[in-house]
Amino acid sequence: MKKNILLLGSGGREHAIAWKIAQSPRLEKLYIAPGNPGMAVQGELVDLDIMDFPAVADFVIKTHIDIIVVGPEVPLVGGIADYFKSRSELKHVAVVGPGKNGAMLEGSKDFAKDFMMRHGIPTAAHRTFNGTNIQEGIDYLKTQKAPYVLKADGLCAGKGVLIIDNLPEAQEKFREMLDGMFGNASASVVVEEFLSGIECSVFVITDGAGHYKILPEAKDYKRIGEHDKGLNTGGMGSVSPVSFATPEWMVKVEERIIKPTIQGLMEENIDYKGFIFFGLINVEGNPYVIEYNCRMGDPETETVMPRLKSDLVELLEGVAEQNLDQRTIEFDERAAVNVMLVSGGYPEAYKKGYPITGCEQVEKDSMVFHSGTALKDGQLVTAGGRVISVTSYGQDKAEALAKAMAGVEKIHYQDKYYRRDIGQDL
Ligand code: AMP
Ligand code: GLY
Repeated sequence: MKKNILLLGSGGREHAIAWKIAQSPRLEKLYIAPGNPGMAVQGELVDLDIMDFPAVADFVIKTHIDIIVVGPEVPLVGGIADYFKSRSELKHVAVVGPGKNGAMLEGSKDFAKDFMMRHGIPTAAHRTFNGTNIQEGIDYLKTQKAPYVLKADGLCAGKGVLIIDNLPEAQEKFREMLDGMFGNASASVVVEEFLSGIECSVFVITDGAGHYKILPEAKDYKRIGEHDKGLNTGGMGSVSPVSFATPEWMVKVEERIIKPTIQGLMEENIDYKGFIFFGLINVEGNPYVIEYNCRMGDPETETVMPRLKSDLVELLEGVAEQNLDQRTIEFDERAAVNVMLVSGGYPEAYKKGYPITGCEQVEKDSMVFHSGTALKDGQLVTAGGRVISVTSYGQDKAEALAKAMAGVEKIHYQDKYYRRDIGQDL
């Protein structure tokens, strides 16, 4: 039977997921809440507050939804999967996304670190401090080498990590964090050993019964400026595949990191159905976990989905029916590069509401994914820091980047900014 699917979220990640789902012959109808104007091509946009779980449930019942795909972390950490499990008339609805306890892998860095320690998963050495042992933390920092890595324990929309070069400043920021620099999210602070290497994002989809599939890996580009200069952003582009993620390296990732993670979740009775994002760093050929996320990455998804040859709905069904082991996964051999167009000024103050033109001009083998766009009197306008992005294929990443560049040059709005060097450091 074909499936009715509800996708939650409104960014580029969700647009890429919608783009992939919409291609499936197994799809009956796709609804997206709240979505964005770009996604109206792939599905019906529904004006729902995705944190209002009873309202989401009413909609699911009314429209006979079979599968809910949760894009962002906030509803997961907030317990949307647990809410659906708790209502008997909703038990048949598969939520792709972990319950509150599984989402703790992202929701609490301290929880994630302890989980990795329990299961022997390679990660930076760490200690966690809170208001009761501030002096111990100050003393501990003295025993560590620069640069100092300080992480707010809780969710901070990607802003909760400070990397500091000198001890007095690290000690000062450590106190400020515990004093509420990130509100309640930094009531506990993880002090971590600095790891030096290149990062790579690896994604897995798992069904809660010990089966998993590894999706194409990707690398994202976090800094606003070319050659990784300037402030951190939500992500300025991505590339897939990642050259150092060779088959040999991926075997290390699977054996040392993915398998013990899945096994650990099972052993600890954490019901985890959905995506696991492994933020990895390659230290002299060996992968270490920098962070877990309980969702896909943005803008990694904008290159991961185009490189997934298999039917995503089939994989989602594998999660729903807990038989992912019986499903196949195939990758597109081509390279994909995603270039994000942002509002001038971002990640600091920027203006919104500028008309966007030219999206339809972007060539056939490129995809346009909307991030922060809106419709105002029928005109597409900018509505966020990250506005819209272009993903292109190529025989290699240079060709993919050249095509993406040709695409982004056809899209126009005032104060448009983007990086021209996505994938070039590899
Ligand atoms: P996170 O929010 O944990 O992903 O951290 C944000 C960024 O800080 C990461 O993408 C890394 O670039 C950097 N980072 C985090 N932890 C470490 C570490 N232990 N060593 C070096 N860089 C780190
Ligand atoms: N691109 C990193 C993230 O989605 O957290």
